[in-house]
Amino acid sequence: MLVSRQLKLVQRPSGLFQADNFTLAEETLTELADGEILVKVIYLSLDPTQRVWAQMDSYLPAVKLGTVMRSFGLGVVVESRAEGFEKGDLVSGLTGWQTYLVAEARQLQKIPRVPDLPLDAYLGPLGMTGLTAYFGLLDVGTPKAGETLVVSAAAGAVGSMVCQMGKLKGLRVIGTTGTEAKCQWLQDELGVDQVINYKEQNVYRALRKAAPEGIDIFFDNVGGEMLDTVLTQINIGARIPLCGYISAYAANEVPGIKNLSVLISKRAKIQGFLVSDYYPRAAEAFTEMAGWLKAGKLHYRSDIYEGLETAPDVINKLFTGENTGKLLIKLADA
Ligand SMILES: NC(=O)c1ccc[n+]([C@@H]2O[C@H](COP(=O)([O-])OP(=O)(O)OC[C@H]3O[C@@H](n4cnc5c(N)ncnc54)[C@H](OP(=O)(O)O)[C@@H]3O)[C@@H](O)[C@H]2O)c1
Repeated sequence: MLVSRQLKLVQRPSGLFQADNFTLAEETLTELADGEILVKVIYLSLDPTQRVWAQMDSYLPAVKLGTVMRSFGLGVVVESRAEGFEKGDLVSGLTGWQTYLVAEARQLQKIPRVPDLPLDAYLGPLGMTGLTAYFGLLDVGTPKAGETLVVSAAAGAVGSMVCQMGKLKGLRVIGTTGTEAKCQWLQDELGVDQVINYKEQNVYRALRKAAPEGIDIFFDNVGGEMLDTVLTQINIGARIPLCGYISAYAANEVPGIKNLSVLISKRAKIQGFLVSDYYPRAAEAFTEMAGWLKAGKLHYRSDIYEGLETAPDVINKLFTGENTGKLLIKLADA
C-alpha cells in the first residue's frame, strides 16, 4: 500500500503564511476505481492565488480547513485504470500539496512531451503561467507593433513571459520590479528596453522618462499604488489587462485607486481576466510558445526548492519578492 505525505491547511493565514497554518499528514492510498489514475507529484507550482484560496472564497471556494492545500502541480502517472492514460504519462492540474494522489483522470490534463525540454517548463512557459501571459497580453491587451507596454512584477513567472512576448510582437517594453539583480536579468537576458526598480526609484518620474510618449498597454500583476501611478500616464485607447493584485493578497489594508477617472478622458479599458477561461484554447498557446522556446526566442527561469515540508515557507517568497521567474518545489524525479 502506498502512503502519500500531505500538507493540510488547518488555520487561515493572516499576513504571510506561517508554519502552523498547516499540518503534515499521511494517507494510505486505496486501490484505483475505473476512470482513476495514481499520480506521483514531481513539481508543485507555487502561485500567488494560493494565498487567496487559503483565506476566502473567490473564483474558487476557499480551501476547507483540515483538507490538503490546493495547488497546481506536475506529476507522472504511476498506474492507470482510465482510458487514454498510461503509466509514464505526464499530467498537470490541481494536484495539491501531496506526494501522491489518486484522481479521476478527467480532473487532470495529459501533457504532450516536447523533446529535450526540462520538466519544469510544463509549469512555466508551457503551463498555466505561460497561458496567462499569452492570452492576457495577446487577447486582452491586443498589442500592435510600435506600442509601449509596461509590465509590473516583470521578473516574475507571468511577467517575464509577457515582457518577452511584448518584444516578439514589436512593442517597446518597460518592466517594473523590486531588485537590481532582477532589473539586470530583464535588461541583459530578456531584452527589456527599460527597467524600473520600484523600491528604489520614484515610479511616476521614472515612467515619465522611460515612456515620454505615454503608455498603450499596462499588463498589471500588482494593482494598488502601481496601478494608480501608471493610470496617470496612459494614452488614448490604452488597454490594461488586470492579471493580478498581489500587493493586496497578504496585506491587511488595501489602498483605494484615486485615478480611475482617467479611463474616461483616455477612452481606455481595464479588464480583469482568468486564465481558466482560456483553457479550451490552451493548445494554441502551447504550440506557439513551444516553438519560441525551441527557436531560442523565449527564455524562462525556474526558482526551484526541494521537499514538501518547505512549501509553507517557500511560498512566502512570492510576497517578499525573493523569487525570480517561476517558483517551484521539487518533490520527486520523474
Ligand atoms: N488572472 C489569472 O488568471 C492569473 C493567473 C496566474 C497568475 N495571476 C497573477 O499574476 C501575478 C503574478 O503571478 P506569478 O505567479 O507570475 O508570480 P511572480 O510574479 O512570479 O511572483 C510574485 C512577484 O510579485 C512581486 N510582488 C510581491 N508583492 C508585491 C507588492 N506588494 N508590490 C509590488 N510587487 C510585488 C514580487 O516581485 P518584485 O521583486 O517585482 O516585487 C514577486 O516576486 C499575480 O498577481 C497572480 O495572482 C493571475
